[in-house]
Amino acid sequence: MNNREIFEESKKYIPGGVNSPVRAFNNIGINPPIIKSGNGAILTDEEGKEYIDFVLAWGPMLLGHSDKDVISAMEKQINEGIAFGAATKLELEMAKFISETVDNIEMIRMVNSGTEATMSAIKLARGYTGKRKIIKFAGCYHGHFDGFLIEAGSGVLTNGIPGSLGVPKESIENTLIGIYNDGEQVEGLFEKYGDDIAAIILEPVAGNMGVIKANEEFIIKLRELCDKYGSLLIYDEVMSGFRVAYKGAQSLFNVKPDLVTFAKIMGGGLPCGAYGGRKEIMEKLSPVGGVYQAGTMSGNPVVMAAGYETLKKLHSHPEYYEHINKLGEKLEKGMLDIAKENNIPMVINRVGAMMTVFFTKLEDVKSYDDVKTCDEEMYKKYFLHMLENGFNLPPSQFEAMFLSVVHEEKHIDKFLEAFKSFRYND
Ligand SMILES: Cc1ncc(COP(=O)(O)O)c(C=O)c1O
Repeated sequence: MNNREIFEESKKYIPGGVNSPVRAFNNIGINPPIIKSGNGAILTDEEGKEYIDFVLAWGPMLLGHSDKDVISAMEKQINEGIAFGAATKLELEMAKFISETVDNIEMIRMVNSGTEATMSAIKLARGYTGKRKIIKFAGCYHGHFDGFLIEAGSGVLTNGIPGSLGVPKESIENTLIGIYNDGEQVEGLFEKYGDDIAAIILEPVAGNMGVIKANEEFIIKLRELCDKYGSLLIYDEVMSGFRVAYKGAQSLFNVKPDLVTFAKIMGGGLPCGAYGGRKEIMEKLSPVGGVYQAGTMSGNPVVMAAGYETLKKLHSHPEYYEHINKLGEKLEKGMLDIAKENNIPMVINRVGAMMTVFFTKLEDVKSYDDVKTCDEEMYKKYFLHMLENGFNLPPSQFEAMFLSVVHEEKHIDKFLEAFKSFRYND
């Protein structure tokens, strides 16, 4: 079966042929390639076509596809047992390692996805503070939990819908929408609802409206407001954790969060998530405290083996981060030079190995409103041009592209060569 046949057949059995909406390429208007294998920086589809991968499973594969050490760690664990539904030493090792190598994590709880991590962190914040409301920012995505599905960034933006059917208004009436990088607006929300705000949740480096880094003053303001009103500050580092730096986006700011959520990279490519923070807050969780959260597969030993190996490897190789930053710099500069030469209106936002190419006439993209000025038709043309030339990019203007430690200069050179023949007005 070729790619098209597999996709058409899949649509008979899986809604839209995919298990997560952005994979369907709806806004691009073509069938997606069906991926058969991944090795290093290369993906191969069912027709044998190769792509240099800049999506990396939407972030997790920082070590590249099929990393040998991660596979060995998983194999070793598989031979000892796949799932126990019981406490293991590996969970202790993983929790201790994260607590010791990432700031502001005294205790951590493993779950199975980023969505589970963020929704559990919100429940914990509500349980800890006794308050109901949360502030999330327009353009930020924290998973598909009902209370987050307004102004929810990429998947929702790309599909042109305001939120989601099936979310009763009662589920979102305690969600307040903040404007990213606008501390005064958030202050206004606190002045009105401050007594009942359990938490602010934000992506300190946003990736789900394209890459936008929060301003330091904005984050400081959020911390002050949380302290003044007794609310918790939650950093959603599902995407930025272990990516923009080993210690995540929180290491780029001088502001402590109360809780941090992780997923993606920390699972080594397997389904995983976690949330952690101060002991006194985390101990509100059952079985110590009264906030109930559980999971048959949480802390699964094979997932822990893959994740622990990944994190140990990243932690013991700080040069990996230098490498991906250097490649990111080369890619950014090279693209900007070509865009200038070819009169392509374009802004690039990059934080380390996470970047977005915005097709806009603006000078800077700093807010969700700026993002909305982008020419999505142009992104689509760029995406198709690069796909044709063998590059796997996010199929949406409102996503981040990623580099892995196994990307090499030659991949960037090829990318730039292909980008040279992209024409804005074709
Ligand atoms: C910042 C952020 N939070 C939460 C999530 C949800 O994670 P998951 O898809 O693992 O449920 C995502 C997914 O992309 C994300 O980028």
